[in-house]
Amino acid sequence: MTINHDPRPLFAANWKMYKGPRSTREFLRDFMQLYEIRDDRRVVFFPSSISVEAFALATEPRPDIGLGVQDVHSEDSGAHTGAISGSMAVEAGAGWSLAGHSERRIEFGDDDTIVLNKTRRILSSGLAPIVCVGETLDERDSGRLAEILARQIGSVLSGLDAANHHLLTWAYEPVWAIGTGRTASPADASEAHDIVRTAIATHAGDLTATKATVLYGGSVKPGNINDLMEVSGVNGVLVGGASLQPVDFAAICNCSGA
Ligand code: PGA
Repeated sequence: MTINHDPRPLFAANWKMYKGPRSTREFLRDFMQLYEIRDDRRVVFFPSSISVEAFALATEPRPDIGLGVQDVHSEDSGAHTGAISGSMAVEAGAGWSLAGHSERRIEFGDDDTIVLNKTRRILSSGLAPIVCVGETLDERDSGRLAEILARQIGSVLSGLDAANHHLLTWAYEPVWAIGTGRTASPADASEAHDIVRTAIATHAGDLTATKATVLYGGSVKPGNINDLMEVSGVNGVLVGGASLQPVDFAAICNCSGA
């Protein structure tokens, strides 16, 4: 079997509910000067859907900068007030979508079945999914790390055609590290990334697991990026807070550890 695989590290920015079209353009004006085109790494942003088109227009001279949406509905159209669909995201210029972010799981009730259905829709829309998984502090403290990751990963992979397994990028984001300033230690990240790859292998086979891009996310900043990128099995990062400042995110994307 041959599988699609881009071995370059991936630096992803999740802007959550920050930055409308104007502040998106302002950010990009600075960021595009601080981060010049490099072909040894990939960079992709997930702005608010209201800013996707402004982002696409502002990055027209920079096809190296990828663009995604933070969420899509599991249906492709219909009476779903407030939601956006995968095909609308493609029309606005997006090439990627997140699925299963812990804020969606906790705040919006995206359970494993919804995450699977959204991932299916992301794929059928022609977008590249980044599926986020991670445990809460309670789950970690009660020794359930491997169980939680296996459940979250298994429910997506077992519901997809095997032919699509290699199209998924994964992000391991411990819930206790998101927006808290508390980062997983390199040892914690390494342990969790091994568990993620084992869970992928169980459903998708060793080759897909070995080649999968698995990001780390949770309080990544310029001061810890090099240590995290050195962890074996960490192929990039998904960054929230520190991606909102052009200087910080450019420092992360330009890191020497990649
Ligand atoms: P953080 O968010 O970098 O602010 O911790 C990461 C994320 O939620 O993807």
